Amino acid sequence: MIYDNHNRPITYLRLAVTDRCNLRCFYCMPEEGIKYLHKSQVLTYEEMERLVRVLARLGVEKVRITGGEPFVRAGLMDFLHRLAAIDGLKDISLTTNGVLTAPHVADLAALGVKSVNLSMDTLDRERFRTITRRDELPAVLKTLDALLDAGIQTKINAVVMDGQNTQDLIPLADLTRTMPVDVRFIEEMPFNGEGSHYPVLHWTHNRIIDEIRSQFPALEKLPDPPFSTSANYQIPGHQGTIGVIAAFSRTFCGTCNRIRMTAQGTLKTCLYDDGVLDVRALLRSGASDDGLTAAFLKAFAHRPLNGFEAEKKRSTVTESMSTIGG
Ligand code: GTP
Ligand code: 5AD
Ligand code: SF4
Repeated sequence: MIYDNHNRPITYLRLAVTDRCNLRCFYCMPEEGIKYLHKSQVLTYEEMERLVRVLARLGVEKVRITGGEPFVRAGLMDFLHRLAAIDGLKDISLTTNGVLTAPHVADLAALGVKSVNLSMDTLDRERFRTITRRDELPAVLKTLDALLDAGIQTKINAVVMDGQNTQDLIPLADLTRTMPVDVRFIEEMPFNGEGSHYPVLHWTHNRIIDEIRSQFPALEKLPDPPFSTSANYQIPGHQGTIGVIAAFSRTFCGTCNRIRMTAQGTLKTCLYDDGVLDVRALLRSGASDDGLTAAFLKAFAHRPLNGFEAEKKRSTVTESMSTIGG
């Protein structure tokens, strides 16, 4: 196991397999989209597989596949099958918008994917269309049903946006009454692809919980699993749980065990940093596994203490979450 310079184990890789997405969520991208990478700039599946092997040898046990939207990249399921065979990897998870996912759910279950995080900011079709600029709520709901039918642990991600979907907090929380899902409300972060709005955080994690508690006064705090980004709660008698992710307030940096690989092969040791290592250049200039390992270890020895320190060291945030991988 490798520890960083702040004594945090590095056991979790978030791997973005593409920067492309089939939605245009306003908190992530401008309506006209972002300038996507050329295919040759994106890591090949072979390159990604090699990186995961090297990182698994260093102690990475969990890989979360992100994007963009992972399912817009052809060949994803074959890639996941190859990852599943890597020694030392205990957990392959996925974050998806659910538009193209339903037909793959049985295959995901068969290859041992135990948990999927599904982005769904509202249960109202019209608001979904406004937020994502696409009319795809029915497809996402189909994916939710398929995941539950397959017995895959499902977390629903809802970014809370003032004036957009705060009326959805209670209906989304109420899904836990009949569904064994973890509904997580996320503070909005500035990664919207144009630096157009640095969110003024009207809906902090505390306010979100106060709002839910006003409707469900019996809401109980649950113990949080190690390295959890969400603070977790449950309404007594409900099947599912409710979580709040203080992504903007960054209350969980002290236990951060995660690193990120963007689709173009840039290593980030914090979501808020600007990229700390051009891994694609190393791979394509013939670096050995030992060379890659040495470069990773050096980066892990210089991680920022938290997202505020990382953010201070960079210029204005204009990246899209679709480029970073979430
Ligand atoms: P698991 O713990 O593996 O379930 O992952 P997760 O909940 O962290 O992943 P997911 O992809 O569902 O992300 C949910 C939200 O948390 C997104 O808005 C992410 O950008 C945010 N998030 C994930 N990791 C971090 C992190 O390290 N720092 C911050 N500030 N936000 C994060
Ligand atoms: N702020 C907070 N969360 C975001 N996500 C995407 N963009 C943002 C943002 N600007 C979330 C999506 C997805 C997860 C990977 O990141 O809802 O579920
Ligand atoms: Fe880790 Fe950075 Fe996220 Fe904090 S903001 S939890 S240090 S990635």
